[in-house]
Amino acid sequence: MLVLAIESSCDETAVALVRGSGEILASEISTQIELHRPYGGVVPELASRNHNLALRPLVERALENAGVELGAVDVFAATAGPGLASSLLVGNTTAKALALATRKPFVPVNHMEGHLLSPFMGDPEGIRPCVALIVSGGHTLLIHLRGHGDYRLLGTTRDDAAGEAFDKVGKMLGLPYPGGPVIDARARRGNPAAHDFPRSMLGSGDFHFSFSGLKTAVFYQLEKLPPPLEDATVDDLCAAFQEAVVDVLTGKTLAAAHATGERLVTLSGGVSCNHRLREAMRAACDAAGLELRIAEPRYCTDNAAMIGFVAATQQGLVADPTLLSQDIDPNLRLAGG
Ligand code: KG4
Ligand code: ZN
Repeated sequence: MLVLAIESSCDETAVALVRGSGEILASEISTQIELHRPYGGVVPELASRNHNLALRPLVERALENAGVELGAVDVFAATAGPGLASSLLVGNTTAKALALATRKPFVPVNHMEGHLLSPFMGDPEGIRPCVALIVSGGHTLLIHLRGHGDYRLLGTTRDDAAGEAFDKVGKMLGLPYPGGPVIDARARRGNPAAHDFPRSMLGSGDFHFSFSGLKTAVFYQLEKLPPPLEDATVDDLCAAFQEAVVDVLTGKTLAAAHATGERLVTLSGGVSCNHRLREAMRAACDAAGLELRIAEPRYCTDNAAMIGFVAATQQGLVADPTLLSQDIDPNLRLAGG
Protein backbone atom coordinates (compact mmCIF):
# COMPACT_ATOMS: atom_id res chain seq x y z
CA MET A 1 0.00 0.00 0.00
CA LEU A 2 1.29 3.45 -0.95
CA VAL A 3 0.05 6.50 0.99
CA LEU A 4 0.34 10.11 -0.11
CA ALA A 5 0.00 12.27 3.00
CA ILE A 6 -0.49 16.03 3.37
CA GLU A 7 0.18 18.12 6.49
CA SER A 8 -0.95 21.76 6.64
CA SER A 9 -2.16 22.32 10.21
CA CYS A 10 0.02 25.34 11.00
CA ASP A 11 2.91 27.03 9.19
CA GLU A 12 4.58 24.07 7.45
CA THR A 13 3.23 22.72 4.17
CA ALA A 14 4.34 19.11 3.86
CA VAL A 15 3.79 16.14 1.56
CA ALA A 16 5.10 12.60 2.03
CA LEU A 17 4.90 9.22 0.33
CA VAL A 18 4.87 6.29 2.72
CA ARG A 19 4.76 2.58 1.97
CA GLY A 20 2.51 0.25 3.96
CA SER A 21 5.38 -1.05 6.06
CA GLY A 22 6.12 2.51 7.19
CA GLU A 23 8.98 3.11 4.75
CA ILE A 24 9.29 6.83 3.90
CA LEU A 25 9.84 7.25 0.15
CA ALA A 26 9.68 11.05 0.18
CA SER A 27 9.14 13.74 2.80
CA GLU A 28 8.94 17.29 1.46
CA ILE A 29 8.49 20.33 3.71
CA SER A 30 8.05 23.96 2.78
CA THR A 31 8.30 26.13 5.88
CA GLN A 32 6.72 29.58 6.23
CA ILE A 33 8.76 30.62 9.28
CA GLU A 34 10.46 33.55 7.51
CA LEU A 35 7.09 34.83 6.32
CA HIS A 36 5.60 34.93 9.82
CA ARG A 37 8.77 36.12 11.62
CA PRO A 38 8.04 39.87 11.27
CA TYR A 39 4.72 39.31 13.12
CA GLY A 40 6.27 37.28 15.98
CA GLY A 41 3.81 34.43 15.42
CA VAL A 42 1.72 32.62 12.83
CA VAL A 43 -0.79 34.79 10.92
CA PRO A 44 -3.61 32.40 9.89
CA GLU A 45 -4.62 34.24 6.70
CA LEU A 46 -1.02 34.34 5.46
CA ALA A 47 -0.54 30.68 6.36
CA SER A 48 -3.53 29.35 4.41
CA ARG A 49 -2.74 31.49 1.36
CA ASN A 50 0.78 30.11 1.29
CA HIS A 51 -0.32 26.51 1.83
CA ASN A 52 -2.36 27.01 -1.35
CA LEU A 53 0.66 28.26 -3.27
CA ALA A 54 3.10 25.64 -1.96
CA LEU A 55 0.99 22.48 -2.07
CA ARG A 56 0.77 21.60 -5.75
CA PRO A 57 4.50 21.92 -6.51
CA LEU A 58 5.23 20.02 -3.30
CA VAL A 59 2.97 17.09 -4.34
CA GLU A 60 4.75 16.99 -7.69
CA ARG A 61 8.19 17.10 -6.06
CA ALA A 62 7.30 14.32 -3.59
CA LEU A 63 6.07 12.05 -6.42
CA GLU A 64 9.20 12.80 -8.44
CA ASN A 65 11.57 12.18 -5.53
CA ALA A 66 9.82 8.93 -4.65
CA GLY A 67 9.90 7.91 -8.32
CA VAL A 68 6.18 7.07 -8.43
CA GLU A 69 3.21 8.20 -10.52
CA LEU A 70 0.07 9.67 -8.96
CA GLY A 71 -1.85 6.65 -10.25
CA ALA A 72 0.27 4.33 -8.07
CA VAL A 73 -0.98 5.96 -4.85
CA ASP A 74 -3.45 3.69 -3.00
CA VAL A 75 -4.59 6.04 -0.22
CA PHE A 76 -4.63 9.82 0.27
CA ALA A 77 -4.27 11.04 3.86
CA ALA A 78 -4.36 14.52 5.39
CA THR A 79 -4.25 16.08 8.83
CA ALA A 80 -7.83 16.71 9.99
CA GLY A 81 -6.88 18.56 13.20
CA PRO A 82 -5.94 20.02 15.59
CA GLY A 83 -4.68 23.19 13.98
CA LEU A 84 -5.71 26.39 12.24
CA ALA A 85 -9.05 25.88 10.44
CA SER A 86 -8.13 27.76 7.28
CA SER A 87 -4.77 25.95 7.04
CA LEU A 88 -6.22 22.49 7.71
CA LEU A 89 -8.82 23.06 4.98
CA VAL A 90 -6.18 23.52 2.27
CA GLY A 91 -4.43 20.18 2.83
CA ASN A 92 -7.66 18.34 3.53
CA THR A 93 -9.45 19.58 0.43
CA THR A 94 -6.44 18.83 -1.76
CA ALA A 95 -6.14 15.25 -0.47
CA LYS A 96 -9.89 14.70 -0.87
CA ALA A 97 -9.82 16.09 -4.43
CA LEU A 98 -6.92 13.79 -5.35
CA ALA A 99 -8.76 10.83 -3.80
CA LEU A 100 -11.95 11.65 -5.71
CA ALA A 101 -10.17 12.19 -9.02
CA THR A 102 -8.23 8.92 -8.77
CA ARG A 103 -11.09 6.96 -7.11
CA LYS A 104 -8.92 6.05 -4.14
CA PRO A 105 -9.76 6.20 -0.42
CA PHE A 106 -9.22 9.29 1.74
CA VAL A 107 -8.07 8.94 5.37
CA PRO A 108 -8.18 11.82 7.90
CA VAL A 109 -5.37 11.75 10.49
CA ASN A 110 -5.07 13.33 13.93
CA HIS A 111 -1.92 15.49 13.92
CA MET A 112 -1.17 14.51 17.54
CA GLU A 113 -1.31 10.81 16.66
CA GLY A 114 1.29 11.65 14.02
CA HIS A 115 3.58 13.09 16.70
CA LEU A 116 2.74 10.22 19.08
CA LEU A 117 3.79 7.49 16.62
CA SER A 118 6.74 9.36 15.03
CA PRO A 119 9.34 7.77 17.36
CA PHE A 120 8.37 4.37 15.90
CA MET A 121 9.10 5.34 12.29
CA GLY A 122 11.85 2.99 11.09
CA ASP A 123 11.62 0.83 14.22
CA PRO A 124 11.76 -2.83 13.12
CA GLU A 125 9.94 -3.83 16.32
CA GLY A 126 6.95 -1.63 15.39
CA ILE A 127 4.60 0.23 17.70
CA ARG A 128 4.98 -0.99 21.29
CA PRO A 129 3.45 -0.06 24.67
CA CYS A 130 5.17 2.96 26.21
CA VAL A 131 4.83 6.20 28.09
CA ALA A 132 4.90 8.95 25.45
CA LEU A 133 5.73 12.61 26.02
CA ILE A 134 4.57 14.87 23.19
CA VAL A 135 5.89 18.43 23.43
CA SER A 136 4.92 20.77 20.61
CA GLY A 137 3.97 24.39 20.09
CA GLY A 138 0.32 23.81 20.96
CA HIS A 139 0.40 20.72 23.19
CA THR A 140 2.14 19.06 26.11
CA LEU A 141 0.75 15.55 26.51
CA LEU A 142 1.81 12.55 28.57
CA ILE A 143 0.13 9.50 27.10
CA HIS A 144 0.09 5.84 28.07
CA LEU A 145 0.21 4.04 24.73
CA ARG A 146 -1.07 0.55 25.54
CA GLY A 147 -1.34 -0.73 21.98
CA HIS A 148 -2.09 0.45 18.47
CA GLY A 149 -4.96 2.96 18.79
CA ASP A 150 -5.22 2.34 22.55
CA TYR A 151 -4.14 5.63 24.10
CA ARG A 152 -4.82 6.88 27.63
CA LEU A 153 -4.16 10.47 28.59
CA LEU A 154 -2.05 10.69 31.77
CA GLY A 155 -1.51 14.44 31.88
CA THR A 156 -1.53 17.67 29.96
CA THR A 157 -0.70 21.33 30.54
CA ARG A 158 -2.95 23.55 32.65
CA ASP A 159 -1.91 26.63 30.65
CA ASP A 160 0.89 27.12 28.10
CA ALA A 161 2.32 24.27 26.07
CA ALA A 162 6.08 23.74 26.48
CA GLY A 163 6.82 25.08 22.98
CA GLU A 164 4.53 28.05 23.57
CA ALA A 165 6.50 28.88 26.75
CA PHE A 166 9.78 28.73 24.76
CA ASP A 167 8.31 31.03 22.10
CA LYS A 168 6.84 33.52 24.60
CA VAL A 169 10.05 33.70 26.65
CA GLY A 170 11.99 34.13 23.39
CA LYS A 171 9.77 37.10 22.55
CA MET A 172 10.32 38.59 26.04
CA LEU A 173 14.07 38.33 25.52
CA GLY A 174 13.81 40.02 22.12
CA LEU A 175 14.85 36.86 20.25
CA PRO A 176 13.52 36.04 16.76
CA TYR A 177 10.44 33.82 16.26
CA PRO A 178 10.19 30.94 16.96
CA GLY A 179 11.99 31.22 20.29
CA GLY A 180 12.48 27.47 20.88
CA PRO A 181 15.44 26.76 18.58
CA VAL A 182 17.06 30.14 19.40
CA ILE A 183 16.82 29.59 23.16
CA ASP A 184 18.26 26.08 22.63
CA ALA A 185 21.29 27.57 20.82
CA ARG A 186 21.80 30.46 23.27
CA ALA A 187 21.43 28.14 26.29
CA ARG A 188 24.49 26.16 25.18
CA ARG A 189 26.62 29.19 26.08
CA GLY A 190 24.73 30.07 29.27
CA ASN A 191 24.86 28.95 32.90
CA PRO A 192 21.68 27.05 33.91
CA ALA A 193 22.39 27.78 37.59
CA ALA A 194 22.53 31.57 37.06
CA HIS A 195 18.85 31.92 38.02
CA ASP A 196 16.68 29.75 40.24
CA PHE A 197 13.43 29.44 38.28
CA PRO A 198 10.42 27.45 39.58
CA ARG A 199 9.80 23.80 38.64
CA SER A 200 6.01 24.20 38.66
CA MET A 201 3.93 21.16 39.62
CA LEU A 202 6.96 18.88 39.74
CA GLY A 203 5.79 17.61 43.11
CA SER A 204 2.03 17.77 42.41
CA GLY A 205 1.68 13.99 42.48
CA ASP A 206 -0.16 13.94 39.14
CA PHE A 207 1.03 14.08 35.54
CA HIS A 208 -0.13 17.58 34.67
CA PHE A 209 2.08 20.54 33.76
CA SER A 210 2.03 24.32 34.12
CA PHE A 211 4.47 26.70 32.45
CA SER A 212 2.85 30.12 32.91
CA GLY A 213 4.40 30.64 36.38
CA LEU A 214 7.85 29.99 34.96
CA LYS A 215 7.19 32.48 32.17
CA THR A 216 6.16 35.09 34.77
CA ALA A 217 9.29 34.34 36.83
CA VAL A 218 11.45 35.08 33.76
CA PHE A 219 9.48 38.31 33.25
CA TYR A 220 10.11 39.51 36.85
CA GLN A 221 13.77 38.54 36.64
CA LEU A 222 14.06 40.60 33.45
CA GLU A 223 12.49 43.61 35.17
CA LYS A 224 15.30 43.52 37.76
CA LEU A 225 18.03 43.59 35.13
CA PRO A 226 19.05 47.02 33.78
CA PRO A 227 18.84 47.33 29.99
CA PRO A 228 20.47 46.86 27.60
CA LEU A 229 20.94 43.16 28.34
CA GLU A 230 24.39 41.81 27.67
CA ASP A 231 24.64 38.74 25.44
CA ALA A 232 25.97 36.67 28.34
CA THR A 233 22.96 37.66 30.50
CA VAL A 234 20.52 36.53 27.77
CA ASP A 235 22.47 33.25 27.43
CA ASP A 236 22.16 32.64 31.20
CA LEU A 237 18.41 33.43 31.21
CA CYS A 238 17.92 31.02 28.28
CA ALA A 239 19.91 28.26 30.01
CA ALA A 240 18.14 28.67 33.36
CA PHE A 241 14.65 28.81 31.78
CA GLN A 242 15.37 25.78 29.58
CA GLU A 243 16.72 23.80 32.53
CA ALA A 244 13.51 24.43 34.51
CA VAL A 245 11.34 23.19 31.60
CA VAL A 246 13.56 20.15 31.05
CA ASP A 247 13.55 19.22 34.77
CA VAL A 248 9.75 19.20 34.87
CA LEU A 249 9.35 17.30 31.57
CA THR A 250 11.85 14.59 32.52
CA GLY A 251 10.67 14.34 36.13
CA LYS A 252 7.01 13.85 35.18
CA THR A 253 7.79 11.42 32.35
CA LEU A 254 9.94 9.21 34.58
CA ALA A 255 7.22 9.26 37.27
CA ALA A 256 4.65 8.21 34.64
CA ALA A 257 6.88 5.34 33.49
CA HIS A 258 7.21 4.24 37.10
CA ALA A 259 3.45 4.47 37.75
CA THR A 260 2.47 2.55 34.63
CA GLY A 261 5.28 0.01 34.84
CA GLU A 262 6.22 0.66 31.18
CA ARG A 263 9.90 0.07 30.28
CA LEU A 264 9.79 2.16 27.09
CA VAL A 265 9.62 5.98 26.97
CA THR A 266 9.11 7.96 23.75
CA LEU A 267 9.64 11.64 23.05
CA SER A 268 8.20 13.61 20.12
CA GLY A 269 6.96 17.00 18.91
CA GLY A 270 8.90 20.16 18.03
CA VAL A 271 10.39 20.70 21.50
CA SER A 272 11.96 17.23 21.38
CA CYS A 273 14.50 18.79 18.97
CA ASN A 274 15.86 20.51 22.08
CA HIS A 275 19.39 19.26 22.74
CA ARG A 276 19.17 19.58 26.53
CA LEU A 277 15.82 17.77 26.72
CA ARG A 278 17.16 14.92 24.59
CA GLU A 279 20.32 14.71 26.73
CA ALA A 280 18.51 14.90 30.10
CA MET A 281 15.81 12.41 29.08
CA ARG A 282 18.51 10.02 27.85
CA ALA A 283 20.44 10.29 31.14
CA ALA A 284 17.29 9.87 33.26
CA CYS A 285 16.11 6.82 31.28
CA ASP A 286 19.58 5.23 31.37
CA ALA A 287 19.76 5.71 35.14
CA ALA A 288 16.31 4.11 35.56
CA GLY A 289 17.09 1.26 33.14
CA LEU A 290 14.40 2.39 30.69
CA GLU A 291 14.55 2.29 26.89
CA LEU A 292 14.14 5.67 25.20
CA ARG A 293 13.04 6.30 21.63
CA ILE A 294 13.11 9.87 20.33
CA ALA A 295 11.70 10.86 16.96
CA GLU A 296 14.43 11.68 14.42
CA PRO A 297 15.02 15.47 14.48
CA ARG A 298 13.51 15.91 10.97
CA TYR A 299 10.33 14.16 12.20
CA CYS A 300 10.10 16.07 15.52
CA THR A 301 8.75 19.29 14.00
CA ASP A 302 5.71 19.22 11.74
CA ASN A 303 6.02 16.93 8.71
CA ALA A 304 3.79 14.77 6.51
CA ALA A 305 5.80 11.56 6.94
CA MET A 306 4.32 11.08 10.41
CA ILE A 307 0.81 11.62 8.99
CA GLY A 308 1.42 9.03 6.26
CA PHE A 309 2.91 6.69 8.87
CA VAL A 310 -0.30 6.81 10.94
CA ALA A 311 -2.41 6.05 7.86
CA ALA A 312 -0.04 3.31 6.63
CA THR A 313 0.09 1.50 9.96
CA GLN A 314 -3.66 1.65 10.57
CA GLN A 315 -4.81 -1.91 10.96
CA GLY A 316 -7.68 -3.06 8.77
CA LEU A 317 -7.65 0.16 6.72
CA VAL A 318 -10.78 -0.05 4.59
CA ALA A 319 -12.13 2.28 1.95
CA ASP A 320 -14.82 4.31 3.72
CA PRO A 321 -16.48 6.78 1.31
CA THR A 322 -18.13 8.65 4.21
CA LEU A 323 -14.67 9.92 5.23
CA LEU A 324 -14.70 12.14 2.14
CA SER A 325 -17.43 14.24 3.72
CA GLN A 326 -15.83 14.28 7.18
CA ASP A 327 -15.00 17.86 8.15
CA ILE A 328 -11.77 19.13 9.64
CA ASP A 329 -11.73 19.73 13.41
CA PRO A 330 -9.43 22.54 14.65
CA ASN A 331 -9.90 21.25 18.22
CA LEU A 332 -9.50 17.55 17.50
CA ARG A 333 -8.31 15.76 20.62
CA LEU A 334 -6.18 12.72 21.25
CA ALA A 335 -7.28 10.52 24.15
CA GLY A 336 -9.16 13.54 25.56
CA GLY A 337 -6.00 15.70 25.82
O1 KG4 B 1 5.55 20.10 16.61
P1 KG4 B 1 5.77 21.47 16.12
O2 KG4 B 1 6.64 21.66 14.88
O3 KG4 B 1 4.44 22.21 15.80
C1 KG4 B 1 3.28 22.05 16.55
O4 KG4 B 1 2.56 21.05 16.31
O5 KG4 B 1 3.08 22.92 17.42
O6 KG4 B 1 6.41 22.31 17.33
C2 KG4 B 1 6.77 23.64 17.20
C3 KG4 B 1 7.34 24.10 18.54
C4 KG4 B 1 7.61 25.61 18.57
O7 KG4 B 1 7.06 26.12 19.76
C5 KG4 B 1 9.13 25.68 18.59
O8 KG4 B 1 9.64 26.81 19.28
C6 KG4 B 1 9.49 24.41 19.33
O9 KG4 B 1 8.60 23.45 18.80
N1 KG4 B 1 10.88 23.99 19.08
C7 KG4 B 1 11.83 23.95 20.04
C8 KG4 B 1 13.03 23.56 19.40
N2 KG4 B 1 12.76 23.37 18.07
C9 KG4 B 1 11.43 23.64 17.89
N3 KG4 B 1 11.77 24.21 21.36
C10 KG4 B 1 12.91 24.09 22.07
N4 KG4 B 1 14.09 23.73 21.53
C11 KG4 B 1 14.21 23.46 20.20
N5 KG4 B 1 15.37 23.10 19.68
ZN1 ZN C 1 2.93 19.52 15.44
